[in-house]
Amino acid sequence: MADQGDIQVAYDAMESLWINSMKRKFGSDVALDFTGARYNGDYTRGYEESQADKRNYVLEQIGLKKGDKILDIGCGWGNMLKEINEEGACGVGLTLSPAQQKYCLGNGWDARLKNWKAYSSLSKETLNLDELTDGNLFDGVISIGAFEHFCSIEDFEHGRQDAVYRELFRMVQSCLKPKGRFYLQTMTFGDRGAPDLDKDIDASASKGSISRIVAQWKAYFPGSYLPEGEKQIVNAASQLFNLTRSEDGRIDYVETARVWLEAVNAPGGLNKWLEWGKFIWKGRGRPELITRYKAVREDAFSRGFAYNIIGHKRLTFQRCS
Ligand SMILES: C[S@@+](CC[C@H](N)C(=O)[O-])C[C@H]1O[C@@H](n2cnc3c(N)ncnc32)[C@H](O)[C@@H]1O
Repeated sequence: MADQGDIQVAYDAMESLWINSMKRKFGSDVALDFTGARYNGDYTRGYEESQADKRNYVLEQIGLKKGDKILDIGCGWGNMLKEINEEGACGVGLTLSPAQQKYCLGNGWDARLKNWKAYSSLSKETLNLDELTDGNLFDGVISIGAFEHFCSIEDFEHGRQDAVYRELFRMVQSCLKPKGRFYLQTMTFGDRGAPDLDKDIDASASKGSISRIVAQWKAYFPGSYLPEGEKQIVNAASQLFNLTRSEDGRIDYVETARVWLEAVNAPGGLNKWLEWGKFIWKGRGRPELITRYKAVREDAFSRGFAYNIIGHKRLTFQRCS
């Protein structure tokens, strides 16, 4: 599982560059979704409309009602906490990024710097779930773009991947009301299958080649390994949750990542250079720094989805009982 240092290098380092680039492109009140938008196949629709569509879809999938209490595992910069609170419900977020927690708390959203794993048997000292639920189970649980970080390469190599996913579903089941819904949006490996960790990763391969893109993804998200696909996730949920709906968001992510890159590459004067400086400074000391920089510059994210190296799923589950 990605630890706090891995998450900080992936998100905190990017914060100033990404947030300011998005604000310059879309205005200061742009919603800070750092996950795939829902274009629903219509790429003439704008980015902001498609992100709003994604948020509405999530709320519809969990059947949000006024007064509900919702857990957001991996709440980022509070895109869903804001939406949930505006609907008259109450959102509680978990993140491993101190920068994200600070941003959320500054906006009055309840974000906690906690690993979900701390409430599961994956942790040496399991925390009491009451600390999270305040004694009242959640009406719904969401997790958007965080599952990607829950299994590390090491977990995979030691055969622990399924067990990690199973523990997540157990933890969610323990804090969710019977028949409550769990919306899970995650990247998976694409139709090419999981790469061979010894052969298919080469940061010095030619620009745009598959092994270079895989190396760039690996460097950008240290400590993270992806699920094979929907089947593996559904198996991990078996007898705890039923899958009630599934959507494929791979092509939507090609467009989302394209828009992000356009924003990051747009001119921004001296501020932009300072933001790049922060990105590099905050990632200093990490061996993968140069490859991470190239991942952004060479459009590894959009290409990863376009070449079907990476897939993307929007899954809705319902607690079995
Ligand atoms: C790509 S961001 C997604 C943020 C947000 N859900 C969105 O849609 O923009 C991934 C989030 O997952 C969080 N995360 C990753 N692993 C986690 C863990 N084990 N426990 C809690 N949060 C975690 C990160 O801190 C970050 O907030």
